[in-house]
Amino acid sequence: MPFVNEKTYQKYVQEGREEEFHSQVEDGLRKVREEAGSDYPILINDRELKTSSKIVVRSPVDTEFVLGTFQKDDGLLMRNAIKVARDAFNEWKDSDWRDRVELTVKAAYELRRMKYELAGIITYENGKNRYESVAEVDETIDYFNYYAQVLEENRGYVKEMEGRIVKGENGVSVMRPYGVWVIISPFNFPLAITATMTLGALITGNTVVIKPSSDTPLSAFKLATILRRVGFPQDAVNYVTAPGEVVSKVLEDSLEVAGFAFTGSREVGHSLLKSFVSKKPRPAVLELGGKNATVITSKADLKKAVEGAFRGAFGFGGQKCSATSRIFVEASVYQEFLTRFKAKVESTVIGDPRVRTTFLGPLINKKAIEKYRRYVDQAVSEGGRILTGGRVKEEEKTYLVEPTVVIDLPYTSSLWRTELFVPIVLIKEVQNLKEALRLVNDVDYGLTAGIFSSDREEIKYFFNNVEAGVVYANRESGSTTGAMPGVQPFGGWKDSGWTGRNAGGPYYLLSFLREQARTTYE
Ligand code: SER
Repeated sequence: MPFVNEKTYQKYVQEGREEEFHSQVEDGLRKVREEAGSDYPILINDRELKTSSKIVVRSPVDTEFVLGTFQKDDGLLMRNAIKVARDAFNEWKDSDWRDRVELTVKAAYELRRMKYELAGIITYENGKNRYESVAEVDETIDYFNYYAQVLEENRGYVKEMEGRIVKGENGVSVMRPYGVWVIISPFNFPLAITATMTLGALITGNTVVIKPSSDTPLSAFKLATILRRVGFPQDAVNYVTAPGEVVSKVLEDSLEVAGFAFTGSREVGHSLLKSFVSKKPRPAVLELGGKNATVITSKADLKKAVEGAFRGAFGFGGQKCSATSRIFVEASVYQEFLTRFKAKVESTVIGDPRVRTTFLGPLINKKAIEKYRRYVDQAVSEGGRILTGGRVKEEEKTYLVEPTVVIDLPYTSSLWRTELFVPIVLIKEVQNLKEALRLVNDVDYGLTAGIFSSDREEIKYFFNNVEAGVVYANRESGSTTGAMPGVQPFGGWKDSGWTGRNAGGPYYLLSFLREQARTTYE
């Protein structure tokens, strides 16, 4: 069956059934409230394990609301899970790729059946608004359907070789799995990003130990249970909750771990990688941060540019690695853009993400609020001007801040190069596209980038010279954000990643495989 994206909300809108969409979202949120407060175990093979110390997960939407308690492993259980996954690999590695495709498609159905409950969990766990939460479940379903198709198209990556040196010689290239992968996933896409890494490893015949962010472990718990329920072997899908420091130590000295997949900050990713390869070289799939820029040329449709840059900068409060963090605007349209952008930002509906009109929900936690304050102060003290925003709105029971636009910030400020991960965007006037491109590329990161222009030559020049893994022209739904599987393979250049094969793209699965050349003689 050809791959088709899920696009739930768009379908409801097209069919004029928006009310139905909202009532299902509300049912999902209700279900999450009804089930809240459980004590979720660590899952190792068929065992459900508890530790005496716990991670209490409170919702950023309402910090008095406890989503659940999770176990706080000190490393012992994670080592145990690795051993179990290592043993499971002996059988799973030889499973038929067709069976793995079938399980993957089954899991996609199950995810679809649970769509609104999962979306509700995402909203409660990380504060995404309902459109973003449902889109994240869509993205997850897409990963499943897309990777099933990729494995099918490649016939399990078995390819007969055409060459022959001697008579009766038959060569075959077979892509084989590595072993156990530790999957370390972030808070901002607790379901979709956990899914792409986990499934990438599993569908290719590896086994996994999933370690989710301690802010958002419930989505990953649900994912692990869905995978097990549809028939992925229990010992191949293990789930452990533990503080970050524990994982770093385990990765360093568990030589049984074949590889690790991580999505998160550059600093953490580099440090994990360093410990991981300190004793022997091993593969890693790293999806790190960004300092993504959008360029608006004098030939841009300003209406589209304002909408796209706004969504890119402030969708999910800038807490996406793909968020627009810098905007470079050509002088002739600079003032006009500022006026329109300011008005747009000031119309943002900030508040409870359970409410259907809310665009900007809370930040993930108290630390994010502190970081927001620190960066706003730094911008001002270094000569920047706050065009709009800059204030914390609520930090007792939830973490609401205003989307913030900084202008006139001297280029010497470190804010031009630091990933902020809060809703702050920096805007600068430039003389031409050439200057803009120089600035766009003047950072260590290279994840996403966008341009608004009606001139094909400008777009071509931008695409050919920009140093980023995912690039967009005239994208109104988010100038640098919102890549979907099978449409925009997602991955970074330079310090933004280490995959070389973007998630949700045709080559991603190869990251979890190594080639074996098999030759037999008649
Ligand atoms: N797909 C997300 C985005 O592009 C990141 O995983 O924003």
